[in-house]
Amino acid sequence: MSTTITSSATPSSLFGSLSQYENYDATPVIGTVFSNKSTQLSQLLEAPNADELLHDLAVLVSHRGVVFFKDQDITVEQQKRLGQKLGELTGKPETSKLYKHPVSEDAPELGLEISVLSSKSGNQRPGYRTKVRASRGWHSDTTFEPVTSDYAILKLHTLPPVGGDTLWASGYEAYDRLSPAYQKFLEGLTATHDGNFFRELAEKDGKKINLERGAPENVGSDLTAVHPVIRTNPVTGFKTLFVNKVFTKKINELTPDESDDVLEYLTRHIADNHDLQVRHRWETNDVAIWDNRVTLHTATYDYAEHREGNRVASLGEKPYFDPNSKSRREATGGSQKVLEAATLPHPVLTKA
Ligand code: SIN
Repeated sequence: MSTTITSSATPSSLFGSLSQYENYDATPVIGTVFSNKSTQLSQLLEAPNADELLHDLAVLVSHRGVVFFKDQDITVEQQKRLGQKLGELTGKPETSKLYKHPVSEDAPELGLEISVLSSKSGNQRPGYRTKVRASRGWHSDTTFEPVTSDYAILKLHTLPPVGGDTLWASGYEAYDRLSPAYQKFLEGLTATHDGNFFRELAEKDGKKINLERGAPENVGSDLTAVHPVIRTNPVTGFKTLFVNKVFTKKINELTPDESDDVLEYLTRHIADNHDLQVRHRWETNDVAIWDNRVTLHTATYDYAEHREGNRVASLGEKPYFDPNSKSRREATGGSQKVLEAATLPHPVLTKA
């Protein structure tokens, strides 16, 4: 495996087949923007070397956490195809497909793999959260499932004139900011993630949740899972902090009081360190692609008008912690550089 480095974070950390497309890093630690509208995901998907381009895109997303594309013409069907390809090309288990959200009946004509995120429905309604802290929304998608999401793709086609930004935070950087002693402490721990409020909300409306959600492991009506607090991303090999405010309910090896305190500290660690975050101000038909294993995100409910888009989340592997993996700073010498050919032999596939 090569660890050749082709460029630093300025003006871009791209390597390989994508370096021909205009781009810049949005912050040193998270986020890359493909700034030219002529760079269309629909064209990358149909290119003769599509597999190479999309592999390099997946590796880039896994390193930079989130990548943005401007004014995209990608269709819902192409969005689904892209979601599945990114994980396949970076070695995910064959049984992991696109996620079917427990409550995804919004637009059955688009398929259960599409979550319609609309200000006209559910908890996306403007004003719904005006009396709670905005930082309560930080989460990674699907962490209450045994097999969690690798990549997610969101295209917003309808926007308010101002407001509705989305923020992402880097789990790599969150891990790297902790003291070695605290890192070691967390590495021995597991957490319980709980999404059963989705079932309760559905039942209140007289509905049932989807019982099959895109992987053989993600079945049934109990939306809880246990995962390591620090996990390893198989694509980069880096350690990342893997707890979030919305779904992580307790740290299993601690007393309830200890668990509450540690989760409170880690929640503040994510929310208070604005220099491990990137904030995207959407323009119509922008697309964001992120790696749910190594980022958290939160929407901003500060608008009154219609905001809507479609999200696809693909499923990766069951989260694991490899004690021999490195933190990003350890692996890159603090440069945040993207390592060429960074895809590691996938442990889920290579371990007996
Ligand atoms: C989400 O995936 O949580 C939604 C993000 C957004 O609507 O900005």
